[in-house]
Amino acid sequence: MMNGKIFQSNSRRPSRVYLTCMSQVMIFPGADELAQAAAGEFARLAARAVLERGRFCVLLAGGSTPLSAYRLLAGGAFDELDWSRVQFCFGDERCVPPDHADSNFRQVQEALLASVAAEAGQVHRMPGELVPEQGAAAYESELRKLFPGQTWPRFDLVLLGLGEDGHTASLFPGSPVLEERRAWVVCAAHTSPPPPMVTRLTVTFPVINHARWILLLVSGANKAQALAQALQPEPGAGSLPVQSVAPLYGEVTWLVDRAAAAGLAG
Ligand code: 6PG
Repeated sequence: MMNGKIFQSNSRRPSRVYLTCMSQVMIFPGADELAQAAAGEFARLAARAVLERGRFCVLLAGGSTPLSAYRLLAGGAFDELDWSRVQFCFGDERCVPPDHADSNFRQVQEALLASVAAEAGQVHRMPGELVPEQGAAAYESELRKLFPGQTWPRFDLVLLGLGEDGHTASLFPGSPVLEERRAWVVCAAHTSPPPPMVTRLTVTFPVINHARWILLLVSGANKAQALAQALQPEPGAGSLPVQSVAPLYGEVTWLVDRAAAAGLAG
């Protein structure tokens, strides 16, 4: 799996690129270069989707890693992007009110949405303030309105992070929702670290895997072990949730920094 091309390049380009059977892994010197690349990929995919389909449907990741990319996108360097054509959805949410410091929506709102003048009809936040089962059902209905008549939604881009335990979105190790194959959105108990330990709303793997493009953003030495395990050629019994990211008709690109890549061969 780790056989592939290795590119030498300057700091604005990935230092190494491994091409695998299903994915490519781009390694950047640090978190800043990773954020630049993520913002650039977002803008590139958005322009392509708007040209081809008239809109760009993106499923945003929570957590801290994507926030720098969101801020870059908000900062004016991507003004050619027609923000009015973007539909902003969320891959997961902590079950807290939208103004809570732990709310993924709040963090994305502050980093991105407030600056790009996204209108209410473009922003589809997960209702973390509801009873979780109701919140999941309400969000699935909201997504179904965006993708009417579809068995599964086809997002133009799904952004994801990676936890030290191998989770992605709010799909945690050992959770029964890892096996969900019918619902688009579910709620999941979350009682052990990483914090915040509150029930989560999350899209399911079939939603992720029907995306046209998946970008996984991984930064920091604390992710090195999980990343190395995730990219093992043959996942064994102890496989990680993130290893279920396997797009059926799309592409997956890992954007990682050198600290996170420390455990990768090559
Ligand atoms: C969340 C997430 C989660 C996150 C990873 C990585 O709501 O916590 O969406 O899956 O992406 O835990 O988080 P960091 O980027 O903060 O390391």
